[in-house]
Amino acid sequence: MKKQKIEIDLEVFETISELPKDIQELMNKAQQARENAYAPYSHFRVGAALRLSSGQIVTGNNQENAAFPSGLCAERVAIFNAGANFPNQIITTLAITARSENQLTTEAIAPCGACRQSLSEYEKKQKSPIEIYFMGETGNIIKVASVMDLLPLSFDAKYL
Ligand code: THU
Repeated sequence: MKKQKIEIDLEVFETISELPKDIQELMNKAQQARENAYAPYSHFRVGAALRLSSGQIVTGNNQENAAFPSGLCAERVAIFNAGANFPNQIITTLAITARSENQLTTEAIAPCGACRQSLSEYEKKQKSPIEIYFMGETGNIIKVASVMDLLPLSFDAKYL
């Protein structure tokens, strides 16, 4: 038996103003998208904004459904939006922000496991990492350099 450790490199920013200008713009778009979320059941609004290599921004937000599992997270709405409309463009960056209608969300909100899996498919397809910045409504912004930082030991097409 051999023990191994997996480490993740995170960058932590204290405020949006500390972020590079293009990331501030992306996070602002994610915030706008968040406000258009359809979240009548959870009252938890999530916005996601992707930057394409062309510079264009593609957004998404969570879309809920009375049949709960039929809804979809913001990150997947955004990445499927990009995959559907810009299938040949490289996605360089993803910004995510979330807020609850019930309390102030001060912790950085990371994408759920299913979204990490969906995001990994596109990162592997394009063979270049997607930087991810995520935050709550206020508080720290966390950056990871790649989807793989959030999904080590991932499952992918090579096993099929
Ligand atoms: N949600 C997201 O949009 N992204 C995540 O990564 C976590 C959860 C949404 C799904 C649901 O509409 C609400 O947040 C509460 O789970």
